[in-house]
Amino acid sequence: MLDLDFMPSQKEIDVFAGRDILDIASLSKEQIETIMKVAAHYERALHNRTRLYDMDGKVMAALFYEPSTRTRLSFEAAMLRLGGNVITVSESNESKTSSSAKGETIHDAISVIDNYCDVIVCRSPINDVRYVVSQTATVPVINAGDGSGQHPSQALLDMYTIFKEKGSPDGLTFSLIGDLKYGRTVHSLVDALAHYDIKKLVLASPKELKMPTEFCESLRRKGTIIEECDNIEDAVSQSDVIYMTRVQMERFPDKDEYNRIKDCFIIKGEHVKLFPEGAILLHPLPRVNEIEIEVDNYPGAAYFRQAGNGLPTRMAMLALVTGSIHL
Ligand code: NCD
Repeated sequence: MLDLDFMPSQKEIDVFAGRDILDIASLSKEQIETIMKVAAHYERALHNRTRLYDMDGKVMAALFYEPSTRTRLSFEAAMLRLGGNVITVSESNESKTSSSAKGETIHDAISVIDNYCDVIVCRSPINDVRYVVSQTATVPVINAGDGSGQHPSQALLDMYTIFKEKGSPDGLTFSLIGDLKYGRTVHSLVDALAHYDIKKLVLASPKELKMPTEFCESLRRKGTIIEECDNIEDAVSQSDVIYMTRVQMERFPDKDEYNRIKDCFIIKGEHVKLFPEGAILLHPLPRVNEIEIEVDNYPGAAYFRQAGNGLPTRMAMLALVTGSIHL
């Protein structure tokens, strides 16, 4: 049983120094738990208002080629709370501010930025770009979301939230609801859940937005029961952890299809009555309309607490990969 009150050993910490975090599949259960224990350590420090210098003199490059609020700001705040510094590119296809507007490739950009920093945190709309960034950079790279691929820092803060709210994922039924095709957060989360003995996974989505089979491979190999359904009621009424997602407008090749599907799955006040006792409701945010505002009053609506957990989780990731933690 994971005890978040204890720091991992120096040996468990040291395996992270200099490595990238590109996805969840490359992390062992022990490594996931090391990150959560270090996150809990930093959460206690934040709570006690302890001034930290673990990353004093170090620089993080935050390269965000796609919109972000929580991920970018919590990575930046994480670095500042650890006594480090931040340089940032924040742009989208519609408004470019770096030399990508002049046609510079990601390879060339990373080759340059690599000289200016100790760690790179990168988000991009391009699937699998994490491999290009990782192969080009000499400093550690953290993938902050690549297209509809992976979003490991979100899955780690989701797991940290599940441990804090429910004690452990073991024995629980999970439902992932909404856009399971393009939503990268759930693609990473299923790989983390595969390390645990969850009771059942319910995948609830419109048929156009089903989870591509390759993403549940690790859970299937483990023999976890996976059930697909196309209505919210079946999913929420049997789940201890309900994970809602936004329909990813920006990833639809056909906007008419987006408009047709976007309002299919909405968690309403009336659904809360179907939740099993003690169920929690998670969402990576941002929310558009897929959880009605009145649901926020439900005590198990944990999405804002979940977003708060992004700060200590990202502090842990940054300090670990840069080898900045000394017991
Ligand atoms: C998610 C993302 O960017 O994939 N947001 C986040 O990082 N919290 C989810 C989303 O945008 O729907």
